[in-house]
Amino acid sequence: PVLDAGWAEEVRALAAQQDAVVLAHNYQLPEIQDVAHFTGDSLALSRIAAESTASTIVFCGVHFMAETAKILSPDKTVLIPDAGAGCSLADSITADQLRAWKAEHPGAVVVSYVNTTAAVKAETDVCCTSSNAVEVVESVPADREVLFLPDQFLGAHVRRITGRENMHVWAGECHVHAGISGPALTAQSEAHPGADLYVHPECGCATSALYLAGAGAVPQERVKILSTGGMLDAARTATPGGTVLVATEVGMLHQLRRAAPEVDFRAVNDRASCHYMKMITPAKLLRALREGRDEVHVDPELAERGRAAVQRMIAIGQ
Ligand code: 13P
Ligand code: SF4
Repeated sequence: PVLDAGWAEEVRALAAQQDAVVLAHNYQLPEIQDVAHFTGDSLALSRIAAESTASTIVFCGVHFMAETAKILSPDKTVLIPDAGAGCSLADSITADQLRAWKAEHPGAVVVSYVNTTAAVKAETDVCCTSSNAVEVVESVPADREVLFLPDQFLGAHVRRITGRENMHVWAGECHVHAGISGPALTAQSEAHPGADLYVHPECGCATSALYLAGAGAVPQERVKILSTGGMLDAARTATPGGTVLVATEVGMLHQLRRAAPEVDFRAVNDRASCHYMKMITPAKLLRALREGRDEVHVDPELAERGRAAVQRMIAIGQ
């Protein structure tokens, strides 16, 4: 739908009146990204939420992100324009399942991806995002077992880079990234032989990207396994006139094209859209500011138990 003229001005004016900061993840709709005060990846947005002096945070992203902001800043009002915006990856492990897994590995250090519920974070020693997962796992003493959850593809990537053998990985996945397949990546790289590949480590095709490089089909230096924030940094030094194949959620293309308009960014799978991220619409953002909904609450006891793990996450890889 065409936005009302004045929508962006109203969002900004209401935010100013209410001392609210509007944050948007890189997978949000372009108009939401453009109106937000800050856009970024999960780690950058968590850091901004922790440091912000605004009394209200309006989180345009999915529920676990808003929950993470609330865990870090329990005295702030945290709003999400639609509390139904979930995450299939966060749903792939429950706190009960994690407790059972921990009981099988006494003494192991639990490293949870930020894409988890507050109840899972409460059972976690240290959280990570795709930007700092390697550093977080490397921060665990080598003789301690690691339980890494919930994403199997990110876990495999971290294990490959760290060479860590005493790391157990939960078999969860994000339905959007798992659907960006190896054959799709191979077909696209054959169709665009000079292209660089930016691959999110949650993708099912991350292994295929490395295989293509290993087999010499794509030069090693052209394959980059990156968080969404890392993709933006890479875009700023990409070759003008070149092509980049992007394996992640399609919302990412907006920021990439803005950062490097002279580069041809193409989705490896142009149907890889996260319907949870897209539940945050311009109308719902306006409603959040007008009506103060949906407010995010985290059980204070759970928040207290999860806070140290999230604080370690934002401190590692600065
Ligand atoms: P990052 O933006 O941290 O790379 O996370 C990707 C993601 O899927 C968030 O839901
Ligand atoms: Fe969750 Fe995947 Fe959507 Fe990210 S893209 S919010 S990991 S379902």
